[in-house]
Amino acid sequence: MQKVLPTRPGADRAAAALVRVELRDFRNHARLALDLQPCSLAITGPNGVGKTNLLEAVSMLAPGRGLRRARLADMARDGAAGWTLGFTLQVDGARTLRIGTGWARGGKRRVRVDGEEAASTLHLGNVLAVHWLTAAMDGLFSAGAGVRRRFLDRLVAGMNPGHAALVANWERASRQRRELLKLGRLEDAWLESVERAMAEAAVAVARARLAAVSVLGEAVAEGAGSFPAADIEVRGAVERLLESAGAGAAPERLQTMWRAARPADQASGRTSAGPHRSDLVVRHRNRGMEAARCSTGEQKALLISLVLAAVRVETGRRGTPPLVLLDEVCAHLDPQRRAALAAELDGLGAQIWLTGADASSFRDFRHVQPVPLKAVRAVQGAVH
Ligand SMILES: Nc1ncnc2c1ncn2[C@@H]1O[C@H](COP(=O)(O)OP(=O)(O)OP(=O)(O)O)[C@@H](O)[C@H]1O
Ligand SMILES: [Mg+2]
Repeated sequence: MQKVLPTRPGADRAAAALVRVELRDFRNHARLALDLQPCSLAITGPNGVGKTNLLEAVSMLAPGRGLRRARLADMARDGAAGWTLGFTLQVDGARTLRIGTGWARGGKRRVRVDGEEAASTLHLGNVLAVHWLTAAMDGLFSAGAGVRRRFLDRLVAGMNPGHAALVANWERASRQRRELLKLGRLEDAWLESVERAMAEAAVAVARARLAAVSVLGEAVAEGAGSFPAADIEVRGAVERLLESAGAGAAPERLQTMWRAARPADQASGRTSAGPHRSDLVVRHRNRGMEAARCSTGEQKALLISLVLAAVRVETGRRGTPPLVLLDEVCAHLDPQRRAALAAELDGLGAQIWLTGADASSFRDFRHVQPVPLKAVRAVQGAVH
């Protein structure tokens, strides 16, 4: 494998970087312990060695279900009753933070930060942000709105650490309403208060999305090197209402709408309108074209533009760059775009996790530590 260790002192250091990662019984990794440099990483190895699984493990540093949106039980190695992940995060080259998360059969996912048990996985959003692009996201622009909305909500959460909790509030309240409607309690006073909570949560979520999209929109409208400029917009009933009626009147209007929709929602078992239906609309600025109509490579480039813009904005706002997980990203880029990506990533100050079966695809990346994974049956030791 080609030697691509950092060459320029300073430029190789990410302001927030994982310097140690330990996986136990996570997917195909019985035990994997990696000591890492605080720079970007190129995870290489043959198909099936566990590269994407390693990225999935790191994605569990975000609240939620990780980059495959898998069930916690599916992450446990076949035959194991749970899994554990341990991370050492170095911030600004000085402070280190130990983060642990894990799951055991019958329980919920637990999180510890510097030895202290967090009340919920949502706490992770306060510690750092994690973004990812995977091959499964290639169809993001032609998929259903849900995939784009989740992508958007992750970008928003990067800029606004409380966002995941707002979305969780909305989901909890709308679930309660569905349960009450299922029980036939259409006139219940409790339903009224649940719809009030839904309205507050819906407005909070939509406001956070609009604010983030406005800031992100400015950043992504500039493009990044040879990555395309884009125009972005969040489109949804609550966002529209907020813009037309304002934040003061919007909750009341939403409540009136849901009150009227009770019979229909009872019949369908769904919530007729709300922030769970919003969509992220992306246009390729120079081509004047909706992202869904762009080529696969152009769509990938647009996604990269969005992530690069989010990293720049977040780093400015939080002071700490997010971790960025790019699974097989080079495979979809022509040599010119690959070189451009290397140049862009270099300047971000973020730890980028790149994967690829072919180590030569990282030739253009000057500041990455090679992390070759080998197919092993037993214990895997530290990689240097
Ligand atoms: N819960 C599990 N227990 C054990 N093995 C698993 C589990 N889930 C997935 N695997 C296996 O982990 C292996 C590695 O998967 P992964 O997707 O990480 O490979 P990869 O290195 O990214 O390969 P590729 O280069 O093809 O993308 C696969 O063979 C998969 O079947
Ligand atoms: Mg893979």
